[in-house]
Amino acid sequence: MFHLKKKEKVTIPLQVPKHIGIIMDGNGRWAKKRLQPRVFGHKAGMEALQNVTIAAKEMGVQVLTVYAFSTENWSRPEKEVKFIMNLPVEFYERYVPELHKNNVKIQMIGDVARLPKATYDALVKAEELTKLNTGLILNFALNYGGRAELTQAIRNIAQEVLDAKFNPGDISEEMIGDYLQTSTLPRILRDPDLIIRTSGELRLSNFLPWQSAYSELYFTKTLWPDFNEKSLKEAIEEYSKRQRRFGGV
Ligand code: FPP
Repeated sequence: MFHLKKKEKVTIPLQVPKHIGIIMDGNGRWAKKRLQPRVFGHKAGMEALQNVTIAAKEMGVQVLTVYAFSTENWSRPEKEVKFIMNLPVEFYERYVPELHKNNVKIQMIGDVARLPKATYDALVKAEELTKLNTGLILNFALNYGGRAELTQAIRNIAQEVLDAKFNPGDISEEMIGDYLQTSTLPRILRDPDLIIRTSGELRLSNFLPWQSAYSELYFTKTLWPDFNEKSLKEAIEEYSKRQRRFGGV
């Protein structure tokens, strides 16, 4: 258990969220402030992700779901999309070995089969290499869109009904959870306890719409490449102060 030292020397026990979702926003603005091309920000963002993942693991977080590329991001300039698509390749070579040493397990959600082959292959290699690790799960949301995820789940459930596997009345919230892409996570870890969005934007942008129903939301003006261990601790401190009631009293 971590303890936070307040100025008046009162210690507040830190409640560490089991699952944190992160919308890593602000890479482009970070680069612009430095008069650099946007892709420079994405590279710095990848470095930030590595540091935050290791810090999260050390604090006892069990799942980190990171929004790395949304289904809407394809509309960016072709050069930028190409650069982002190459990040997992670089990530596999430069960063995955250290994550593997830290017992991190890499997984992914999203329509990953539609990613360029090299991107997809790098992610599959990372998954394969780390599949027996038992520590923090780093869950990449790549080519992910929450509505697309729900649409696919509804299609699959409708098909099962047509195939007479069950009746519409048997469909429960728990069953829907089993048809979502987060069903690859352990059942009690599927929903993020906390969602962090960097760069000052105040929305969820199609990130885990079903799973975030009861998530605590934390918004910070910090741009993603500047988000670090200290920023993560601040977010967790804020989370610790909130009382989650899940609709109760
Ligand atoms: C949003 O910032 C960021 C992205 C769309 C890309 C995020 C990717 C990373 C942080 C690297 C992830 C690493 C791997 C291995 C995939 P933005 O470009 O929208 O920034 P802006 O709002 O300032 O323009």
